[in-house]
Amino acid sequence: MLLTRDDLILTDEQNRFDVPAIAALIQNTYWASHRGVEQIAASLRSSTCLALMRGEKTLGFVRAITDHSVNSYICDFVIAEECRGQKLGTWMLEVLMAHPDLVRTSQLLITKDAAAFYEQHGFAEHPYVCMKRPTQAWS
Ligand SMILES: CC(C)(COP(=O)(O)OP(=O)(O)OC[C@H]1O[C@@H](n2cnc3c(N)ncnc32)[C@H](O)[C@@H]1OP(=O)(O)O)[C@@H](O)C(=O)NCCC(=O)NCCS
Repeated sequence: MLLTRDDLILTDEQNRFDVPAIAALIQNTYWASHRGVEQIAASLRSSTCLALMRGEKTLGFVRAITDHSVNSYICDFVIAEECRGQKLGTWMLEVLMAHPDLVRTSQLLITKDAAAFYEQHGFAEHPYVCMKRPTQAWS
C-alpha cells in the first residue's frame, strides 16, 4: 500500500522504510528513549507499520501488532516535531485503523497524554486495568 498527499508518501511497504530514521524518531519519544536500533528493527518486522515520508526524509511512523481478526495494539506513533499539528497524525491513524490487517479488530492503545487525539477517532477509556510486565531481555 502506498498513498500520496501532495509531496508526502504514506506506506506500509517495509522495503521503503529508512529503519535508522524510524529508530531515531522512536528513540526521541518519552517511552522508548533506551530502545536499541536492533530491537526496533525486529519490532517493525513483526508489525503492520506505516511510515510517512517526504522524499528521502521520514516524518512519521506508527505500528500495530495484530492478529488480523480479534485484537490489535497500536503503538510507537510519532510525528517529527516540526511536522506536528498539520493533521498528518490524523491521516496516519485513519489509514491504520482502516488497514486490512486491523480493520476487523478491536484496536487497543496506551497513552500518557494524547487521549484527546484518539478520542476524535472513536477510542475511549476502557474500564478495566491495563497491566504490563516489563522485559529484561534486551537490556
Ligand atoms: C500525537 C501525534 C502523533 C499527533 O499527530 P499530529 O499530526 O500532531 O496530530 P494532528 O495534527 O492530526 O491533530 C489532530 C487533532 O488532535 C489534537 N492533538 C494532537 N496531538 C495531541 C495530543 N498529544 N494531545 C491532545 N490532542 C492532540 C490536535 O490538537 C488536533 O485537534 P483539532 O482537530 O481540534 O485541531 C503527534 O503530536 C506526536 O507525534 N506527538 C508526540 C509523540 C506522542 O505523544 N505520540 C502518541 C503516543 S500515544
